[in-house]
Amino acid sequence: MKIRAAVLEEFGKPLVVQDVDLAPPRAGEVLVRLHACGVCHTDLYTQSGVDSSGYAPTVLGHEGAGVVEAVGEGVTSVQPGDHVVTLFSPECRACVHCVSGKTNICLAIREQQNRGYLPDGTTRLSRDGEPLRHFMGTSTFAEATVMPEIALAKIHPDAPLTSACTLACGATTGIAAALWKAEVEPGSTVAVFGAGMVGLGAVVGARLRDASRIFVVDPSRERLELARRYGATDLLEAGDDVVARIVEATGGFGADYTFEATGRVNVMGQAVEAARMGWGLCTLLGVAGKGEKLEIVPRLLITGRRVQGGSFGGAKGRTHVPQLVEMALRGEFDLDGFVSHRMPLEDVNHAFELMERQDGIRTVLVMQ
Ligand SMILES: NC(=O)c1ccc[n+]([C@@H]2O[C@H](COP(=O)([O-])OP(=O)(O)OC[C@H]3O[C@@H](n4cnc5c(N)ncnc54)[C@H](O)[C@@H]3O)[C@@H](O)[C@H]2O)c1
Ligand SMILES: [Zn+2]
Ligand SMILES: [Zn+2]
Repeated sequence: MKIRAAVLEEFGKPLVVQDVDLAPPRAGEVLVRLHACGVCHTDLYTQSGVDSSGYAPTVLGHEGAGVVEAVGEGVTSVQPGDHVVTLFSPECRACVHCVSGKTNICLAIREQQNRGYLPDGTTRLSRDGEPLRHFMGTSTFAEATVMPEIALAKIHPDAPLTSACTLACGATTGIAAALWKAEVEPGSTVAVFGAGMVGLGAVVGARLRDASRIFVVDPSRERLELARRYGATDLLEAGDDVVARIVEATGGFGADYTFEATGRVNVMGQAVEAARMGWGLCTLLGVAGKGEKLEIVPRLLITGRRVQGGSFGGAKGRTHVPQLVEMALRGEFDLDGFVSHRMPLEDVNHAFELMERQDGIRTVLVMQ
């Protein structure tokens, strides 16, 4: 079938929205009619050409939500009509990592996915007979996509797809990190560095876990105010003194849990230092620039601070995303509030400009 899709033709150049061909799903694959897709930093990072593992041409996009239209042979977990969120991080529930219960880094399709192919090493996307690669195994800046069954989270049909799509990456990364990766305990103190989509998610998770105080650090006044709406109790303008301020406000110790959601290594360092002596747990979520290193004074670790990180906030997509959707439907947090702009697929380059200007938390492209 022919679909409209935003193609990265050349690094550093605007995406070109055009007609491309999408072949039917093969065994274990699913055709999804996409309704919406959030625009995330990773799309822009790849478009810019800074990511040396990037490839072109490809259809970008990885924060998609839509409705199953057809399934390939052997698919049992979804059927036509089901509402789904796309997962760049699959969950096969059979590989050694999935079975371990210790990590969300599923090994089932990793190699082919990293190269932009579906698990059988081919593509369903093409143009004039030439294959087009599937970015992050998702390629959701498009009217439809074909993806492996293990990379789709089936969600409650009442959830609006134009906000549920944010759970495909940004929102889940922050919320899951606080709920299930760090497992914030009731009554504890939390410090979140960065109040973008990911940081706000961590604020939501900390609030849902009944943290007693939630410090949020950001240079933007507007973003700090937004963080207050999501549950932040203490707003701190970013700067060299924030660690001292957090330590002082927590009786000289530091926060029980800290989260970094900026991608800046100097801020990662602050997040480690702001974690409490004895048991403070620092969770790094930001993606640092190529080749950058994080320096930690070993004494901070010897005296009991711990540091961890999490791709997708450690979330197991097929298990956790449907749970987050149900929580949003019960009104436990405001998923729709994360979406600042909605626009058609044709405006994808404008959405990139908004993200570069830090205008709004999330722009969602609406396809149907
Ligand atoms: N771990 C994952 O799987 C995953 C998933 C999605 C995004 N990310 C990464 O998480 C990071 C955050 O993503 P986002 O979408 O929220 O980005 P964003 O740009 O919307 O938010 C970043 C925030 O950090 C703030 N900031 C800048 N300098 C700061 C400083 N010195 N101190 C405190 N805050 C500062 C900015 O003002 C902004 O509000 C990015 O690096 C992104 O690539 C990781
Ligand atoms: Zn993303
Ligand atoms: Zn697996």
